[in-house]
Amino acid sequence: MAMGQNAVTPIEVSSNNNLCGVLSGSGDKSISHRALIIAALSAGCSRLTGLLVSDDVRCTIEALRQLGIWISESNGNSVLVHGAGIGGLTDPVGPLNLGNSGTAARLLMGVVAGNPITAVFIGDESLSGRPMDRVVKPLSDMGASISLSEGGGLPATVRGKNSLIPIEYHLPVASAQVKSSILLAGLHCPGVTSVTEDRLTRDHTENLLAKFGADVQVEALNGGRQVYVSGQPELISQDLVIAGDPSSAAFPIVAALLTKNSEVCVKGVGVNRSRMGLFDCLKEMGADLQIISRGAAGGEPIADITARTSALKGINVAADRAPSMIDEYPILAMAAACADGVTVMQGLGELRVKESNRFTSIVEGLTKCGVKVEEKGNVMTIVGGGGRARWRDMPKIRTHGDHRIAMAFFVMGLTCPQPIMIDDMSMVATSYPGFTDDMALLGVRL
Ligand code: S3P
Repeated sequence: MAMGQNAVTPIEVSSNNNLCGVLSGSGDKSISHRALIIAALSAGCSRLTGLLVSDDVRCTIEALRQLGIWISESNGNSVLVHGAGIGGLTDPVGPLNLGNSGTAARLLMGVVAGNPITAVFIGDESLSGRPMDRVVKPLSDMGASISLSEGGGLPATVRGKNSLIPIEYHLPVASAQVKSSILLAGLHCPGVTSVTEDRLTRDHTENLLAKFGADVQVEALNGGRQVYVSGQPELISQDLVIAGDPSSAAFPIVAALLTKNSEVCVKGVGVNRSRMGLFDCLKEMGADLQIISRGAAGGEPIADITARTSALKGINVAADRAPSMIDEYPILAMAAACADGVTVMQGLGELRVKESNRFTSIVEGLTKCGVKVEEKGNVMTIVGGGGRARWRDMPKIRTHGDHRIAMAFFVMGLTCPQPIMIDDMSMVATSYPGFTDDMALLGVRL
């Protein structure tokens, strides 16, 4: 079966309590993509340990191989990347298939733009429908020639150049993918490229570029920042350990909070400020969370996070928190549905252009579960049921092929005496291939 085309796997999830155990967090997806790409642009051989080996990250590995990078997989989650240096990529023989991965597609467009090569980018149905004009605009300003499908998505053809023009770009939407695409293209410019963001989005690209020896400067600007990268550096290979993924750890952690007599610890989770929005919200909701610092991995702070059964209450989540928890709204919505009181989440426009339209996927699924949920513009309001059973017939949840919708409703299914049916769990391989095994390890009976 082709990559990203896993057999559809429906699952029935029913009430489970007493979740207990310790999980070793799986590698961060965002950092894994970036570490592979930046290692490929470096001189020498980098060893990446703790890499997330998921369908999304495999797409980046295979695309880089097609672009002439030699990557060897030694054992499980460790790889060696033999970098070609800035501007050292070669023409791929076929299209680059980025599967379900927006990060892989957008970041690699920035890299290909700075090489004198032509590459066709393709993806699955979900990725093909996602907006690519947000990276095409700045990359075109830098001198790349990019054509998109009629709908503004993939397939895209990127014709790169070996000398792009540096730009100063103000992000119209808070997007770490767009920021990273421009910074990676900026590595190929003679001069300084800068990106201004009104709110901090995940800063792993900046951190890793600095670690590999690039000149990256950051200036704080009331609430946001301007990031500068000097072009044409010589990046030096590194041995890196990848931090655990807070976006994946979120699922077992919220499962522990919502089920009775539970205590779960996830070890080595990345706790970079730009990713902590969910944990801030959960604490405000009254969650019993213990976050114990364990130093750093690959330049990113890590911690062991322990969650215990908690009675949560509804909160107001302001729009400016969205960049720090953009992937966590599906699981926050489940916590809100089980909390006492009303939760209001504002500024959710970007949820509509993720792996599915997550706004409607959440509203549709929660409504089937008997939860009162209201949509007004980009604001979602959820009336919590205080942890009580809310439905009689088994709700059938449509995931729309979205890994985080699948995992969020799986957790929801654990909280209630009546089972729910989830139409497909196969897509969890996108970001958290060990999800059902980890849940079984914690005692979930399937
Ligand atoms: C990501 C950034 C986010 C996030 C995505 C991963 C990244 O997207 O939703 O899952 O690795 O940069 P945007 O930056 O487009 O919001």
